Amino acid sequence: MALWAGRFSKEVDETVNAFNSSISFDARMFAQDITGSIAHATMLGDCGIIEKSESEHIIEGLRGILADLESGKLVFDPNAEDIHMFVEAELTKRLGNTGKRLHTARSRNDQVALDIRLYLRDEIDEIARLVHKLAVTICDIAEQHKETILPGYTHLQRAQPITFAHHLLCYAQMLRRDLMRLVDTKERMNECPLGSGALAGTTYPIDRWQTAKLLGFDKPVDNSLDGVSDRDFCVELCCALSLIMTHLSRFSEEIILWCSWEFKFIELDDAYATGSSIMPQKKNPDVTELIRGKTGRVNGDLVTLLSMLKGLPLAYNKDMQEDKEAIFDAIDNVKLCVKTFIPMLSTMRVIKENMRKAAAKGFINATDCADYLVKKGMPFRDAYKITGTLVAKCIAEDLTLETLPIESYREMSELFADDVYDAINLENCVMQRNSYGGPSPKAVTDQLDELRYELEQAIGCFS
Ligand code: ARG
Repeated sequence: MALWAGRFSKEVDETVNAFNSSISFDARMFAQDITGSIAHATMLGDCGIIEKSESEHIIEGLRGILADLESGKLVFDPNAEDIHMFVEAELTKRLGNTGKRLHTARSRNDQVALDIRLYLRDEIDEIARLVHKLAVTICDIAEQHKETILPGYTHLQRAQPITFAHHLLCYAQMLRRDLMRLVDTKERMNECPLGSGALAGTTYPIDRWQTAKLLGFDKPVDNSLDGVSDRDFCVELCCALSLIMTHLSRFSEEIILWCSWEFKFIELDDAYATGSSIMPQKKNPDVTELIRGKTGRVNGDLVTLLSMLKGLPLAYNKDMQEDKEAIFDAIDNVKLCVKTFIPMLSTMRVIKENMRKAAAKGFINATDCADYLVKKGMPFRDAYKITGTLVAKCIAEDLTLETLPIESYREMSELFADDVYDAINLENCVMQRNSYGGPSPKAVTDQLDELRYELEQAIGCFS
């Protein structure tokens, strides 16, 4: 018999029942649902809305349900409409009439809004810890490669010399911003919707500040309609998660390239690669490909949330039940991806020689050659043109700027002298790129120090 049987003359159609039900996916919020109910019952008792003894009885009953769900003694009823109805029904089963008082001055609309916030708040902490760990792992690898020369690319064409450390830290910077976005999201969502009621608050003398405080929120949501109809925090979190995935996906793509025979800059540990069912020689970077693929899925979750909210009139609408599967899916997949990514990175073998070999080809010191002339007084545009001509000559004669004879240099400009070879030496080129944020070992050391500090500051905002 449905809870609302008084109003209805028929049982709900079985298909509709199953269609309507969310317990298969909202059961995971059981602890948050019970925590919220305990705070609500405490407040009802303290405000004299129900007897203090009844409030205590209810709290004890709720604690019992929580313990039994955690131990597996109590299992979810798949026929319950949702986790909120299930817990309340179980409480009434255990306590009789007292259990029926719990829902005084509350609606499932503010209840579900509360549960999601509590659930996401906990998940954000865990995701933040994982993102932080990944960023620190990248910093640790970078520490080892401040002098490992790597060609930097634009348009996937070799461009200018950098170091592997500098390249890696670019990803760590993305993750630092991801972490700060999580700080922001958590801070903005930390307002308590409980007490918004169905949409219009309540006539009971409730204390919304008490429940907000008991549940660790900064304050109650200021508008009861907003309390039940806002899912911006789901969208914001999903945005942050989409960006995390975007960053992992870009990194994954580079790892896929780097472990191809065309690059061979790294080799993944056997534990983080897979073979082929037919080609005995294969070692495939499946993990990174799956991360790249799952990025589309998390973006899909974000679009689901935005589309679900678009055009919804105030306040609660059942459409909003669709929020959970989307945001839960995004959370689950991001956690899975980051957890797998960390050990995959820390076990990968960096093949410095191949990075150095790649850096030696492709004229990545051409800008430095032009800058050499500029430093001797030539305008940059002229120096650029002369260097371009020298590169063309090298290509025609199968030489590099390092092996081109000084006579050929001097034919183009009298400003060239023997010290040009020092100026275009790759190690020197990197060393001298000492501008703030640049790839020189000194600049990278400064970046790394600052970054490690900022990562520690950011993770301090989570519990
Ligand atoms: N299962 C519902 C959800 O996830 C709970 C709120 C139901 N409220 C209602 N008025 N039907 O959104």
